[in-house]
Amino acid sequence: MKILILHGPNLNLLGTREPDVYGSTTLDEINARLIELGKSMEAEVKCRQSNHEGILIDALHEARTWADGVVFNPGGYTHASIVLRDAISAIAIPVVEVHLSNVYARESFRHGSMISAVCAGKVVGFGWKSYALGLRGLIDIIQA
Ligand code: DQA
Repeated sequence: MKILILHGPNLNLLGTREPDVYGSTTLDEINARLIELGKSMEAEVKCRQSNHEGILIDALHEARTWADGVVFNPGGYTHASIVLRDAISAIAIPVVEVHLSNVYARESFRHGSMISAVCAGKVVGFGWKSYALGLRGLIDIIQA
């Protein structure tokens, strides 16, 4: 089984970016933990991050050719991007939406998600562990 972990804009700054909101774990540390977690469940995990919408779309399209599913944190694009929603709809593999913070306990503009309706599931508010929970859930969906 092969899984893409896809991180959107500003998540490259994790560790130093608003640590009170997003925690002090860096993106490299999160990725290393997810690769290990994947191994323990016989899944090969590849991680990518981009600050650019088009590159995220390309990564989703490419994932269609090699991955069984995607764990996706689109960052701020979550609340605005119709094109990312369309990309998720266009690929025939399950995508799980994750957010480190509890977006519902934050500003109202973060309460809406363009992509939730086209995702297989969603995890919010558990810090970096949102990714781990999302990965477990995604593997469960793929195995079912
Ligand atoms: C985020 C939540 C978004 O509202 C924000 O724009 C981010 C990070 C999260 O993981 O909590 O960049 O997706």
